[in-house]
Order: sequence, then structure tokens, then C-alpha cells
Amino acid sequence: VSAFLRPKGNVLTLFVDGSEDPTIPPFGKVVDYLTYCGIYREVYLTSHPSSYIEDVFVSGSSDGTIKVQTKIHGEGSPHYALYDEGRLLAEFDGSSFHYDCPKVWGVGSPHLYELEAQLGEDRKRVRFGFRDAKFQPEGFFLNGKRLTLVGLNRHQTYPYFGPAAPKSLQYDDADLLKSSGINLVRTSHYPQSEHFLDRCDELGLMVVDEIPGWQYIGQDKKWRENCRDFARRMIVKERNHPCLIAYGLRIDESPDDDELYSSLQAIKEELDPGRQSLGVRNFKDSHCLEDVYGYNDFSCDSLEHGVDPSGQLKGGKGKALLITESNGHMFPTKSFDPTSRRVEHALRHAKVLDEAVGDRGYCGAITWCAFDYGTHRDFGSGDHICHHGVYDIYRSPKYAASFFKSQGKTPFIDVASLLQPGDFDAALMPKIYVFTNAEYVEMYRGEHRIGRFYPNRKDYPHLPHPPIVIDDIIGDMFNEPNISPEDGKKIVATFNWCAQNGYGALRVRDKLFLARMMAKYHLDFSYVYATYAKYVQSWGESSSLWRFEAFKDGKRFATITRGPSTDFHLEVKPTRDTLVHGATYDCVRIGIAKKDQYGTTMPYASDPVEVTVEGPIEVYGPRIFSLYGGASALYIRSLPCKNPTEATVHVTCLGETIDCLLVVRPA
Ligand code: GAL
Repeated sequence: VSAFLRPKGNVLTLFVDGSEDPTIPPFGKVVDYLTYCGIYREVYLTSHPSSYIEDVFVSGSSDGTIKVQTKIHGEGSPHYALYDEGRLLAEFDGSSFHYDCPKVWGVGSPHLYELEAQLGEDRKRVRFGFRDAKFQPEGFFLNGKRLTLVGLNRHQTYPYFGPAAPKSLQYDDADLLKSSGINLVRTSHYPQSEHFLDRCDELGLMVVDEIPGWQYIGQDKKWRENCRDFARRMIVKERNHPCLIAYGLRIDESPDDDELYSSLQAIKEELDPGRQSLGVRNFKDSHCLEDVYGYNDFSCDSLEHGVDPSGQLKGGKGKALLITESNGHMFPTKSFDPTSRRVEHALRHAKVLDEAVGDRGYCGAITWCAFDYGTHRDFGSGDHICHHGVYDIYRSPKYAASFFKSQGKTPFIDVASLLQPGDFDAALMPKIYVFTNAEYVEMYRGEHRIGRFYPNRKDYPHLPHPPIVIDDIIGDMFNEPNISPEDGKKIVATFNWCAQNGYGALRVRDKLFLARMMAKYHLDFSYVYATYAKYVQSWGESSSLWRFEAFKDGKRFATITRGPSTDFHLEVKPTRDTLVHGATYDCVRIGIAKKDQYGTTMPYASDPVEVTVEGPIEVYGPRIFSLYGGASALYIRSLPCKNPTEATVHVTCLGETIDCLLVVRPA
């Protein structure tokens, strides 16, 4: 704008053209997510001396090699300074340097360094890491070690405000995903906020990004040039991030187009030859110009099948193979769906991951997807939401999120059942699925110990932590002195079968067995029935209180109790208590959940919530709403203020008001 400036009284007016232009990807056909118009990230005006640094690209290898490319506007060559946590380590000129024994960037120890380029008065500092990331047909290797990739796809959108989420919410999403037992995120289907990538660098959460687009390739020159331009910009924007292990350089699920895709490869070779590329398709014999053959495998249509064998991906011969999507639309699941559906949703993810991890031809799997996301009238469930997430749109976890969490290292347990007979058809008590990384779980009913249960390695042989499947709700509790222990065991098995499937499902062999027992021990039918009722049905009994104790290294690390819910409370949890109003508004997510006296979220609760605020803050979204699957989230944004100022959010629900105290301060 320099040419237009006057000494005083300048006004800069920015016009945003938010129309869908069919020559700009992803437009031209249909898309299953929402695209938004407007300014939703920081916008800066910068001033430069006549010669200045436009861009610094630095990459570090685990052996300590640093390579730098700096783009200068004007004249001169830069001088570099290497920093570790603010401490100057070395200075150099030229485009490469060797730093002995660097702390290597990895998923467990994401150490970051900074490089400052200096040209006269102008300085530019960028963060980077020392690491080697390599996809090979034999798998993915980080710093020379094979690492199985377990990932989720992310849309960066939120309820009410779409993608207009500031830094703090981008950080929250990265934190949540890192704590979700995964090591990789795909930024489907467009480059995402720099803040998100910054946080992934800090956390050691790996990322594959993607150029904008969805299934459609425009044939006109403009569309294709825009696509190339996006690829260029994405690489230049993201190439300093150590978390980024490959560029997604193919329009998601598009047909082959060698002309377009070879030109994207050429762009990558020019801008960042050291990093590999990924291409995501949904067919098996695609022409693969990228280093990694990404395959969206939606063949899981039951609990019997997870993914197709890697050998079937003919187009990926000699390339690294990665499952890049699965599940999603095949089994949309709402956070307020019946337990049985939410459990099956989690188990389908378990099946996909088990088979993908077990097939050494795959580097791993990224499934669809992290969060439910906004869509339009043609997709979604009529409510303009694609309920494909393992978290809902408010980031409240479904059981599938518990499954992923259980694959991580942090001790975790969730029992995927309310254990309320009325929650199941015919008041049956189906198998209980426990998502945990415990070595075993001890189950009790009231004071009776039922037994010890181990991860189900038979059905999920490849998962680090298979679900624990409890199919015995009687176990050690069975105590009928007149019946021999062997017969007792068989009776327990028959009762359990009946509890899970109903009397009507008793097989001929079960009936004959029970008749034999009656004859052997001189029992009449009313005794059998009363014994069944005693051990299985538990209305009003202490045995309707279930306790699960999780053990690791012989030590109990968690206890979960489920029982009749009688006392309810509202849990109100802000992610932070200070908002900093700076380049943009700041935002805090306040998680809300209705819980019973055992801490169990009530998944069918839809109680009304009313919110009022005081101080320099505003509610992003409605002030009166209903709980959604027993939970929801409030998004509060900051308003300008001159000094640190207190603010309060009053949340009224279940007849009480809970206050949440915040502080808003200027940057
Ligand atoms: C895929 C597509 C994703 C999403 C998903 C739903 O085909 O790549 O964007 O629509 O289906 O399962």
C-alpha cells in the first residue's frame, strides 16, 4: 500500500469477496463440509526496510545438519543465529551448518530450536526441529525407528462460529487430540491454522496436511492454476514445522490426473525436496505419483471386517501405504444415540485399527474423523451436521474417543455402558465393553467379586490395548452349596447367555442341559427361575451397584462405579481462566456435563441451560440451549479492555447457578 499512503489520515478498507467461485478449489461441484467466507485468522500489515527477509526455510536432520534457504527482497546475504530456549548456541553464514548432538524432535520429546536470520536491521526468527521422517514401503520411520501411525482427520470448524477460532482454541484442539491416544492428524481437506501446527510442534503430534479440494478437479486453466498456487502457498506456509511429515498433494478422493499431479510434485521438489508427499484416493488401482498411497477404506460395514488387505492396493505397489479414512458416513453416530450404537461405533474403529496395524503393509491408519462438523442440507442428518466424529461438535467424547484414548500411554479406563437394563431391548444385559490400557480389570457387584477380566486379544490381536469384553456378570458370586463347582460354571455360562440374549434365545442344548441339572439335583422350575433372578436381575438390590477396578503393574490406578443414578449435578469446566484480548479476540471453552453421583455423564439428558455474563466477555452462540447427549460447551469470547478485568459466566441448570470466574486482559 506504500504508494497510496499520505502522511496522515490513512484508512484501509478491506473488502472480502465470499462468493463461491467455481474456478477456486474446492468449488466447482459439491463438498460435504462447509466453506466459510470472511476473515477468520489474523491479518497483519507489515512494514519493511527496502531490503528485507521475505521468508526463511530451515530444516534440521537428526544428525545435526541444518539447511537454510532465505528469500531476500532487495540485496544482501543473511547472517544466522541458532537458539535453544532463548540461549544462543551458534552463529553462521551460508546455507548449511552442523550442530553437534542436537536434542531430536520426536513424539515423546518434541524439542524445538529457533533460527534467527538477520539482514541489516531486519530480523526473522523461525522455529524448527532436528528430525528425520521417512515413509517407506516397509512402514513409517521417525528418526530411524518404525512407528505405527494412528490418526484422526480434523475439520477445523466449531459450532456457531465455524472456523473463526483464535489461537487458544486451536491449541485446545491439538491438546485434546494429543491426549486422545493418537500420534497423527490429517488436516482434511485444506491447510489449517498456523496455531494448530505450532501446538502440534510443541506437543509432538505429527501432521499430514492437504491442499483444498474434495473429489472434484476442474478442467479449466484457472481452476488448475489456483490449485497449483494453493500447493505452493501451503508448502511455503508450513515447511518449517517439524510436526509435518508429508504434504497432501492430491485433491481428496479425486480421479487420476497425471498432468495436474505431476505438476504438484514438481512444485514440492522445487520448494521442499526433503519432505515426502501423500495422495489420498478412494480406489485401489490409482496411478500414484506421490511417495505415499493414501487410501480411504470404507469397507468396514460390520464388526466382522475392518480394512481390505494392503496387497489389494495395486496402484500403491512399491510405495508406502496408509489408510487415510474409514468409518465416518458408514456409521454416523450421535452423542445422544443409544448405548448399543455408540458402542458399535467404538468397536468399528477398534476393528479398523486392529486390522490396519496388523497388516505390516500399512504404515497405519487415520480414521474419519476427530470432530462432528457442520455441513449443508444435502449431507448430515437433516440437522446440517455430519455426525462422523469420535468427539461431537462441542468436543464432548463419544465412546469411540474412549477407545482411542485407551490406546495411549496415559492410564485410562472407560466402561462403555450405563449398566441400566432399561437402556437395552427387552431389559437384557449385553456384554460390557471396557476401553482401557489396564492390564486387567476386577469387577464387583455390590460387595461381591465377579472376577478378573483381561484384554480381548483373540478378537483384536494387533491393538496395543484391546478392549476388555466382559461376558460374565455372575462369576465368583455364584454360590449354591448343593451344586458341584463344574456344574455351577456351566449354569453360570447358561445364565449369562440368557442374560445377554433372552429366554427366547435359549438353544435346545441349553434347555436339555438345564433339564439335566434339574433332574440331577432334584430342582423344580421355580428354583431355577429364582436362582436366575437372584444372580442376573438385580432390581433394588445392592448388586445393581457395579464397580470396575483397573490395574497396571499390580497397582490399582482407577475405579469406576456405575449404578442407579439418583443425584445429579452439573460439571462446569473452563479450559483456562484468563483471556488475552490481542491481535484477535480470545476464547475459552467451558465444558458442561450432567453427571450422576458416580461421575457418569447422563447421555440422554437434554436439560435446559441458561447463561448470563458480566464483564468484557460475550457468549459465542445462544444464551439458552439444551444439553446435547448430556453435555455441551459454551464458547466465551473476550471484548476489548484497557486493564485486566474480572468477568463472570453464570450457568444455570438443574435448578442451580454455577459461576465461572474469568479474567480478561489486554495483550
Ligand atoms: C469421505 C470424504 C470425507 C468425508 C467422509 C465421510 O469420502 O473424503 O471428506 O466426506 O467420506 O465418511
